[in-house]
Amino acid sequence: MNKRDFLKAAALSVATVVVQSGEAVGLNLSAAIPKNYVKLGKLGSFPQARAKLAVGTDRFGKKQSVWVIRNKNTASGFDAKCPHQGVVTKADEKGFICPAHNSMFTASGTRVSGPAQTGLAKRKIAISAGMVYLVWN
Ligand code: FES
Repeated sequence: MNKRDFLKAAALSVATVVVQSGEAVGLNLSAAIPKNYVKLGKLGSFPQARAKLAVGTDRFGKKQSVWVIRNKNTASGFDAKCPHQGVVTKADEKGFICPAHNSMFTASGTRVSGPAQTGLAKRKIAISAGMVYLVWN
């Protein structure tokens, strides 16, 4: 290989590296989801104005259980774990009930009765590209 051929080959390999590097950066940016977002499911999988239990896994591998209530293209959420001892609550026609010691909560998460001293904790929900996320701190 003479000097001219060597320089051509070197220029071609540099161009290839630049293109590959550009593609990799583009892919990383389009797939970027903040680390504190926990994916809960597609917005369309949540019924209108009814609580649906969603479970996502945070970046530490811990399950996060959230009641998601969809309102058209927005959603709100409550922690599904009972504030008494952390048992996952169940939804009923009036709101939520804890199966462990019968703490009861309204549909808006307010405590009604039972050993729980507070209501269900509100959780921050984000929607991006039709996907519902728990914003977890
Ligand atoms: S854990 Fe829910 S009432 Fe005790």
